[in-house]
Amino acid sequence: MTSERKILVTSALPYANGPIHLGHMLEYIQTDIWVRFQKQRGHTCTYVCADDAHGTPIMLKAQERGITPEAMIAQTKIEHMADFADFNVGFDNYHSTHSDENRELASMIYTRLRDNGHIKTRVISQLFDPEKQMFLPDRFVKGICPECKSEDQNGDNCDNCGATYSPTDLIEPRSVVSGAEPVLKDSEHYFFDLPAFGDMLKEWTRSGTLQEEIANKLAEWFEAGLQQWDISRDAPYFGFEIPDAPGKFFYVWLDAPIGYMGSFKNLCDRSDDLDFDEYFKKDSTTELYHFIGKDIVNFHSLFWPAMLEGTGFRKPTGVFAHGFVTVNGKKMSKSRGTFIMARTYLDNLNPEYLRYYYAAKLSNKIVDLDLNLEDFAQRVNSDVVGKVVNLASRTAGFIYKRFDAKLASEISEPELLAEFVAAGDTIAQYYETRDFSKAIKEIMALADKANAYIADKAPWQLIKQEGCEAEAHLVCTMGINLFRILSVYLKPVLPEMVAEVETFLNDEFNWDSYKTVLTDHEINKFKPLMQRVEMDKVETMVEASKQNLVVAEEEVVEAAVEETAIDLASDKHIKEEPIGEMIAFDDFAKVDLRIAKIVKAEHVEGAKKLLKLTLDVGGETRQVFAGIKSAYEPEQLQGRLTVMVANLAPRKMKFGMSEGMVLAAGPGGSDIFVLNPDEGSEPGMRVM
Ligand code: MSP
Ligand code: ZN
Repeated sequence: MTSERKILVTSALPYANGPIHLGHMLEYIQTDIWVRFQKQRGHTCTYVCADDAHGTPIMLKAQERGITPEAMIAQTKIEHMADFADFNVGFDNYHSTHSDENRELASMIYTRLRDNGHIKTRVISQLFDPEKQMFLPDRFVKGICPECKSEDQNGDNCDNCGATYSPTDLIEPRSVVSGAEPVLKDSEHYFFDLPAFGDMLKEWTRSGTLQEEIANKLAEWFEAGLQQWDISRDAPYFGFEIPDAPGKFFYVWLDAPIGYMGSFKNLCDRSDDLDFDEYFKKDSTTELYHFIGKDIVNFHSLFWPAMLEGTGFRKPTGVFAHGFVTVNGKKMSKSRGTFIMARTYLDNLNPEYLRYYYAAKLSNKIVDLDLNLEDFAQRVNSDVVGKVVNLASRTAGFIYKRFDAKLASEISEPELLAEFVAAGDTIAQYYETRDFSKAIKEIMALADKANAYIADKAPWQLIKQEGCEAEAHLVCTMGINLFRILSVYLKPVLPEMVAEVETFLNDEFNWDSYKTVLTDHEINKFKPLMQRVEMDKVETMVEASKQNLVVAEEEVVEAAVEETAIDLASDKHIKEEPIGEMIAFDDFAKVDLRIAKIVKAEHVEGAKKLLKLTLDVGGETRQVFAGIKSAYEPEQLQGRLTVMVANLAPRKMKFGMSEGMVLAAGPGGSDIFVLNPDEGSEPGMRVM
């Protein structure tokens, strides 16, 4: 009997600026299976996670949507939690890095690091957007590659020639945020003294708890020499202000891993059995594991253990990295419809299909995992439906109908049963070491044996033969018991289906349940446990993912329209806006301006700035979305004349087609004035 362990487990905290997709899901499913296995074994295992709510992209995304970052992250958190719950990912707590607990812990950790002499300051020069008045992270600068001269390359590397460089090396750099040319600007930054932890990290690496690939990567980094880590960012920034440095904020990656602690702390404060200090004190006998993707290994195996060491906390027992999901052999792609959101999947397919498929392909190595959609359907159908569920569906009916729902009082094939029991330790070992594909392989090999046994005994024939009833009863009882053991083994992977198995068998499984048998035991009527994967549902999901892309692009168009409304709103615009670039008369003559009558004005559900106008342009009706909601109630507009650009190419927007544009003036907000001609104007007249 293994003694009880106390284990704290985390998955990486997803960013709060976008939906969960099937790539993310690999990690949460992998972690959840491991956690469920530990719980099933009777260990105290606690699984915490949170949204990663800070940073420049989140700040800008909220601005773009015209809402506060707080409102945006609150909404995203609800969506993330629903996605996870519907995939049966059983967090013990799901929190946010933008929380009181995290603010306190981040301050405390920073202060301790500073007091222990691990924080240095240095003035650095960085690209700054003079229009937006903000420093630009590398990915928000684009320009011409200094090496191969190809245009529109990223701030830190070139997609065309692969060169890496500093954003200051770019030719003709531009801010992605405003389009302005960035300037160099000095600012004092705070650095975490990572090199001071080199020896500790080397030793920790050798401790044997890291995957070989991570240990090798660390050796490379040690070889290259550890660098000071920049942990501060200047305002404007969405994050926590550094306690002794007003206007400076913690870089998102400083407080993100602290978010693991923050979420756990939040849980401990509500729980009688969990004690924060017991888990995080230096000499803790509890275990701490982080499941992460291969792209964030440096944060978890360099900075994070060093931060913990530098503040007198315990270090992780293990960091488990996985590879990336590809779909049909290629990187997930929006245009191919393989950039599949968790919600789009859930709208079409059973979450346990994906849990099974990922489990069947996961190992403890850092290798990419291909979600091949044909193989996915085929694998789930042949294994789960064809081998496991089938076992019960071929035997349960007879027990229920012919033997009063009661299993026989003995096990007729003890050797076959013993084989199933003997596999338990090996399967447990595979789960423990995260070699899920091997666990599944083992389980399916048993399922094959069970099916061969049933096929050989053919209870459907026995039941019809004189005097063979008792044997049929024994065979079906065997079948149900073998099915039961397989279900015990599959419970971490298929919690929802196995919960139904438990109901069906009037039983409840812990890990050791495979060592016992059900005899003389009443069962319930068998209900189909899992439907086959239908390929047309898979195709619908892929099509819907392509649709999502269209919606995303329309949002960009809408954002552009809204952006114009925001531009109008800035004071700067009326006071200082110079007359724009000169255009030739011929260019102007192309614009067909017409008098239009607003016959109908309506609110648009979900739009923050737009009203939908139905315009009469002299017999012809047009639908136009205009960013004037802040200035008008729809009723005020109905019946009025205005001026519209009648030959603007129609644009497909999130809310429908916009077939033109109405002219308005003003600084913005409630001061937008739709142009209002009088003196004999009539719908359809040309404006000259
Ligand atoms: N916010 C950081 C993590 C902070 S942890 C203190 C982050 N967020 S993320 O949303 O980009 O990614 C969350 C997790 O999902 C990461 O572990 C990442 O590796 C993983 N994945 C994101 N896309 C993935 C695939 N396509 N395939 C597999 N895992 C992927 O990083
Ligand atoms: Zn290049």
